[in-house]
Amino acid sequence: LETDTLPGAETLLGALSEPAMILAGGIVLAANPAARKALGESLVGEDARRAIPDGAAVERLLVPSSAAIDDVELSGVGEPGRRWLMSARRLGPATLLVRLFDRSEAYAAEKMRVDFVANASHELRTPLATLVGYAETLREEANALDDPTRERFTAIVHDEARRMQRLVEDLISLSRIEAERFSPPRGALSLARLIEQAREGFRRAAEERGSQIVAEVEPDIPPVRGDSGELAQLLDNLLSNALRYGRRGTPVTVRAAAEEGRMVRLSIADEGDGIPAKHLPRITQRFYRVDASRSRALGGTGLGLSIVKHIVERHRGRLVIESEVGRGTTVHVLLPAAPGNGR
Ligand SMILES: Nc1ncnc2c1ncn2[C@@H]1O[C@H](COP(=O)(O)OP(=O)(O)OP(=O)(O)O)[C@@H](O)[C@H]1O
Ligand SMILES: [Mg+2]
Repeated sequence: LETDTLPGAETLLGALSEPAMILAGGIVLAANPAARKALGESLVGEDARRAIPDGAAVERLLVPSSAAIDDVELSGVGEPGRRWLMSARRLGPATLLVRLFDRSEAYAAEKMRVDFVANASHELRTPLATLVGYAETLREEANALDDPTRERFTAIVHDEARRMQRLVEDLISLSRIEAERFSPPRGALSLARLIEQAREGFRRAAEERGSQIVAEVEPDIPPVRGDSGELAQLLDNLLSNALRYGRRGTPVTVRAAAEEGRMVRLSIADEGDGIPAKHLPRITQRFYRVDASRSRALGGTGLGLSIVKHIVERHRGRLVIESEVGRGTTVHVLLPAAPGNGR
């Protein structure tokens, strides 16, 4: 029968995945690989004041006392932008176990939530202010306004109210899709039909721009696993972008083809101004727009692509946006084929 002896501190530290070290008298006595990676390979033997690049936090560790030490936030450790929580426990009068917990993700999620509420309120405030202003004028100066002016004001009130309605509907869509993200759709459906329906729905809008929506659907593509309402909404957003940001008189092409790994590729291509490369990484974020005033003037809320991204994620698919300034944009959506069709 074998029995292990009680492991030493080094072994114990090595078993922890977060950066962990032991400080004695303000000197790093031992450190695990994660700590050396975050704070430098020559960490052991260093003065804690040099090792941890947050002076104020270190000072709190080094005050001689027997009281517990509160956890403290650290920045400036590891890659730029990382956020850590430093937790210290006393092991003896001058000896401390110090661990760093990576809180970057929680911090980013919290920041996103705060930004989202701020952005949404801001987007609602602008049309609301216009609405209140015109409604007041219409009421208080009803007799002073001639008919054409009154009509113009009423139209503005209506447009702004519609804009708010679209925004609120998009917000509701977004939260509904997000809430369902852990339950992927089960139905099987044909993209060819959805594409036909979407083309039909946009025929007028396309004609008004002197454009055409061209469909190139490979015969015999397998059905995809999807939710028809959500995929219709996805096509709706991508086609409206392609028409809105495409050049007048140029076609918009919708393609669907089978792809390796039991996937189906849906692509929407326009011949518009394109999206400058530096905007691409952020283009699917909520309210992110390359040219906010242009998008707003065209009735956009900046939520379209983020709704698309959430739909693709819920479908366990992939979204790839290719764009070349001056040439146009192609959005590719890869969707898993429905199981059990023999292919
Ligand atoms: N096909 C495209 N060509 C060029 N720019 C595009 C294209 N699609 C999207 N963009 C850019 O990305 C931004 C975000 O698109 P998104 O669809 O999320 O919002 P939107 O179109 O402004 O508003 P909406 O909520 O009505 O869709 C747009 O404002 C535009 O700047
Ligand atoms: Mg859009």
